[in-house]
Amino acid sequence: MELLCIEGGRPLSGSVKIQGAKNSVLPLLAATLLGRGVSVLKNCPRLTDVDASLAILEHLGCETGWDGDAVWVDATSLTACAIPDALMRAMRSSVIFLGPILGRLGQAVMSYPGGCELGPRPIDLHLDALRTLGADIQEGAEGLRCRARTLRQGDIHLPLPSVGATENAMLAAVAAPGVTVIRGAAQEPEIVELQTFLRSMGAQVRGAGTSTVVIQGGQALHGGEIAVMGDRIVCATYLCGCAAAGGEVELTGVDPRHLSTVTALLAQSGCDVRSGPDGVRMRRDPGRPLQAVARVHTAPYPGFPTDAQAPLMAALCTAQGTSVFVENMFASRYRHIDELIRMGAHIRTEGRVAVVTGVERLHAAQVEAHDLRGGAALAVAALGAEGESAIAGLHHIRRGYAKLDEDLTALGARANILEKK
Ligand code: UD1
Repeated sequence: MELLCIEGGRPLSGSVKIQGAKNSVLPLLAATLLGRGVSVLKNCPRLTDVDASLAILEHLGCETGWDGDAVWVDATSLTACAIPDALMRAMRSSVIFLGPILGRLGQAVMSYPGGCELGPRPIDLHLDALRTLGADIQEGAEGLRCRARTLRQGDIHLPLPSVGATENAMLAAVAAPGVTVIRGAAQEPEIVELQTFLRSMGAQVRGAGTSTVVIQGGQALHGGEIAVMGDRIVCATYLCGCAAAGGEVELTGVDPRHLSTVTALLAQSGCDVRSGPDGVRMRRDPGRPLQAVARVHTAPYPGFPTDAQAPLMAALCTAQGTSVFVENMFASRYRHIDELIRMGAHIRTEGRVAVVTGVERLHAAQVEAHDLRGGAALAVAALGAEGESAIAGLHHIRRGYAKLDEDLTALGARANILEKK
């Protein structure tokens, strides 16, 4: 078993360039299917979810490869429209391939992506959007059978701004002749990046970043090129690590505007945060405790990101006073709390609400990651805790953090991965 061992209680100091964003690169990889030719994604993070996406693309008949930090996909010839169950299960967001397979081949077969560590993960909004574009979707015990000889334009209304459903709808709509309007769209920066990439492939898309996305579909698309944006959640995680341990860090390669709700709360808790054109610097005096923040409620962008909830909670475990978290996005996103309690945190939960009463310090413990961001939160807690913590469940963390141990080491932490029998 592999363990991430972190010796805490040492202030951080150093500079790190933040990796490319997982939540951007996954829909971009799905989008490559729509173009005949070679697409190139620079600054692509080496994540297990990226490997899973490449395996799906190869299964469908694409050629793929790495060239340094760039990944290329040649989607000129597709030979399959079905994704086998094992590949669907390897990555929860594999449903994002449905729209582009349907758009390119007119039919798609896949099993359900299934529930996940965060609770049930419905895909009804994805399917409703594709049906609006003319897809006939049969839902059976084994999965989905979708057909649409030709997709057609449609008016899509999303009752809630689902990131994945917005992306799936965009990816199908670029292949549907006519003008498709997506109202109630998610406004995340990753949606804007998807629009940029689709445009580089020859698609006509506008409005991403607002609640209405308009697509003039039906153009023949070619390969596209983009440099994947820095990962705002990885950056938020390292900022929370600095908040927990104290010290000063410089994180580059991210747009600080994408992090403003996180940095505002860190500033409120007593950290000195400075945003620059290409990143964030943050300082927390190790001699001065953090202060609790009034209320953190997760919401769709531009609200506070659910993905940063666990890392911020881990930092605020040692803040003076009581912080209240309300998790509005996913049902089971508090699985890190029992582990934080093992490290000495004082946290009560009731449904969606978690009340964190600050303690003077956390102590090291052997803990287990149960999901991706919850695992990252345990690393944050360990950075501030007295002694050496050992975190198991690294496969969750590797879905989204390309080199957590190396980055933390570059920031002055004692972190390494040990193989334990
Ligand atoms: C994406 C992110 C994930 C992030 C989440 C919310 C990726 C790969 N993942 O996930 O890291 O935590 O956004 O910011 O980008 N819902 C439905 N029906 C649907 C789809 C969603 O009810 O068909 C609900 C979900 O259960 C959830 C909410 O909508 O409560 C938001 O989910 P959504 O925005 O779709 O998240 P993902 O795209 O899966």
